[in-house]
Amino acid sequence: MCGIVGYIGSRGAFPILFDGLKKLEYRGYDSAGVAIIEGNEMQLRKSQGNLEVLGEKLKNENFQGRIGLGHTRWATHGKPSDANAHPHLDCRGRLALVHNGIIENFQEIKRKLEEEGHFFSSETDTEVVVHLVEKFFQGDLVKAVRRATKELEGSYAIAVINCESPEQIVAYRHDSPLILGIGDGEFFLASDIPALLPYTRRVLILEDGEMAELNRTNFRVFDSHGVQIQKEIEEIDWDPEMAEKKGFSHYMLKEIHEQPDVLRRLLSDPLQGSGLELPQIASILERLEKINRIFVVACGTAYHSGLIGKALLERTTGIPVEVDMASEFRYRSPLVGEESLVIVVTQSGETADTLAALRYAREKNAQTLGIINVKGSTISREADDVIYIKAGPEIAVASTKAYLNMVAAFYLLALKMGQGNVDQENLKELLRLLRGIPAQLEKVLQKGDKAVREASEYLSRWENAFFVGRGLDFSLALEGALKLKEISYIHAEAYAAGELKHGTLALIEEGIPVVALLTQEKLLEKMISNVQEIRARGGYVLGITQEKLAQRLEGEVDFIMTVPSTEDMLTPLLATVPLQLLSFYTAELRGCPIDQPRNLAKSVTVE
Ligand code: F6R
Repeated sequence: MCGIVGYIGSRGAFPILFDGLKKLEYRGYDSAGVAIIEGNEMQLRKSQGNLEVLGEKLKNENFQGRIGLGHTRWATHGKPSDANAHPHLDCRGRLALVHNGIIENFQEIKRKLEEEGHFFSSETDTEVVVHLVEKFFQGDLVKAVRRATKELEGSYAIAVINCESPEQIVAYRHDSPLILGIGDGEFFLASDIPALLPYTRRVLILEDGEMAELNRTNFRVFDSHGVQIQKEIEEIDWDPEMAEKKGFSHYMLKEIHEQPDVLRRLLSDPLQGSGLELPQIASILERLEKINRIFVVACGTAYHSGLIGKALLERTTGIPVEVDMASEFRYRSPLVGEESLVIVVTQSGETADTLAALRYAREKNAQTLGIINVKGSTISREADDVIYIKAGPEIAVASTKAYLNMVAAFYLLALKMGQGNVDQENLKELLRLLRGIPAQLEKVLQKGDKAVREASEYLSRWENAFFVGRGLDFSLALEGALKLKEISYIHAEAYAAGELKHGTLALIEEGIPVVALLTQEKLLEKMISNVQEIRARGGYVLGITQEKLAQRLEGEVDFIMTVPSTEDMLTPLLATVPLQLLSFYTAELRGCPIDQPRNLAKSVTVE
């Protein structure tokens, strides 16, 4: 939630800040702003609306300053407005500050500061921080920021610049991500790596409690006691192009099309021999006998991948698996203990509820495993073991390629953890089929999406839709419905197909679109009966199935979309693509801002 950037060096700061904000816009886009020190003056420009609005406002400005901060906001305290946009200034307009996170005790601090004569110009929690820095500033910005953070409760990554020391940015991290980019005679900071990639791949990830001071020739990092420390600079292997649109109209479409490659990347090491190698879980395999329960905890799309994970893990390991939404997990006092394995799944590695669930699990001495995309993220550093899903930067708010690779990671995990229980011939065959999935995905994407486009035309005219399926298809239906809701704003609900008649069938009216997942050969007859129930009440059924089952569905559905044939167990990896495209085209037809749906942000760092 919210993206922050900073620059100090010999180039003009504005284009670098603006470009960095573009890469971070997925974190929030209801207002944006920059502060640049020009000579001895703070130049502040901010505006409600997304970056385009700010860019339009600033198109005739000619900033010269070589130090500055930028921010793109997802509102928590105070509605989106010019005044509430960051950066925020102190009373004299000499200090500027950007913040990502939440200051929980801001009301109390604000009251005191107002009594002391500070004047506030916004409704945000953030503004108290810059006034605290002002209060404690006695010529040393590092000391003032450190002193100010002692007053704060909540989660925050902040960066501050000061006209009185215009050769310095000071940044501090507590529970919200902050990364330094180390250039040649210039330094950057950002909430996430894609903002740094056009300038440097050398990064330094701040830990909680660490503070950084950047100046024109050097940087220093201090630990939570204020002692200067040496930190290792990491080389990021992401290519800057990975964070570009590469000729696609939207990041989401580009990311959908990247899926064969990202899946290949994930599978290549584990499946390079004839067996399955997953050294990341060596310590889990050593303790496998002791594990009596598995918990999968995640939010949103990542949670949906966990539902598929549950089905796979229970099938292969025989260990009971519970799947929890991270926002609920710790409040239900789950029976987690030393003999539990808690798997947290997250693209960003920063989701506040997932992080809290992980910390809860660690307090209970459970073994923890992260299935994570972003390297160096908070969750990746706190989990005992990590399987990186290697999806590369995912910019569109709606997750596609990360979801696919989360699901794929569960296949690897389930097959490895259960390899002692699974029939070896069967395992070999599943691995062979799994190896072939990237090529099959290519076919799905190459074959043209005529059928999906036609189905989208139908869907786009409705305000309500249903998604139904059984078994793995039901988990996929939940993800399909979420994707449609978030980017096309059509109200969509997913149901286990057999459940409809227990109430929801009352909502089926003439023509209402029902997307039916029909990929499970073993459940096909049952699904056909459910589809008949829907059609008998006027529902218009858009079916998704494997090619080998298409014939059996002739006359049974109103519309059919197919994916190449495989084992029932592997179909989610293929059938997810038509669901993604269905949402994409439907949203496009409805003129929705696909990469940045209203009210959302990609990285949810508040609970
Ligand atoms: C929806 C979507 C979200 C995320 C959720 C968790 O398309 O992307 O539902 O899955 O916010 O985010 P991560 O995976 O970063 O923990």
